[in-house]
Amino acid sequence: MKYKRILLSLLVIFMFMTISGCSGNKAETTQDIQKETGPAEETVSETQEQTDKKILVVFFSRTGEQYNVGVIDKGNTAIVAEMISEKTGADLFEILPETDYYPYTYSELTDVAKKEQNENARPAYQGSIDLSDHDVIFIGAPVWWGDWPMIMYTFFENNDLSGKTLIPFNTHEGSGLSGFDKKLQAACKDSDVLEGLAIRGKDAQNDQDSVRSKVDAWIEKLGY
Ligand SMILES: Cc1cc2nc3c(=O)[nH]c(=O)nc-3n(C[C@H](O)[C@H](O)[C@H](O)COP(=O)(O)O)c2cc1C
Repeated sequence: MKYKRILLSLLVIFMFMTISGCSGNKAETTQDIQKETGPAEETVSETQEQTDKKILVVFFSRTGEQYNVGVIDKGNTAIVAEMISEKTGADLFEILPETDYYPYTYSELTDVAKKEQNENARPAYQGSIDLSDHDVIFIGAPVWWGDWPMIMYTFFENNDLSGKTLIPFNTHEGSGLSGFDKKLQAACKDSDVLEGLAIRGKDAQNDQDSVRSKVDAWIEKLGY
């Protein structure tokens, strides 16, 4: 009888220890898991930060009357910019003049653009963009008098593009790339400027299948 009571007491004590030990262990285990998963999660987010660097397409483009295409409601360069974005999943940032003083008619626009170029002007544009998440930036504009429109130089100078990969593109009506790559490299000395793409404005409006093939092939060659 005495042995039975001792045995029963021992059994009760053992059961109590087992139950409290499990919950204690469980709590400890949860904390341990949290301790273990904490740094692991940090590692994942650090890795994501490294790989999630997004691609951006910055572009300037005009609607209204344009050479060879009549009056357009989407700019030639805008069409190419959207194709790049569709192919790469890139965000788009359109450079829009702060006050839209650019004329609607082609010949008046050429006069204003020439004046800006002669004066080495830096026209202001609307808004700003945080580029810290963007390591690769496609930058496009129409050729204006053999060069980037001056408002693009405002963008190059307003932003810290050092260490970034810059990929120029343009639309034109005969001048081709017009040294956009070299001019971009000269303006952004600490950036890595890759091979650019020139597209005829008229093709961007009227021959979009062939333009899309060129855009896709170029991006694939670049490895994006
Ligand atoms: C002010 C101005 C200057 C231009 N200068 C040139 C030029 O030097 N060479 C060229 O091939 N095309 C030139 N063009 C034609 C444009 O580059 C072409 O129409 C372009 O596709 C327009 O693009 P957007 O619709 O995106 O503005 C000029 C057009 C304008 C309005």
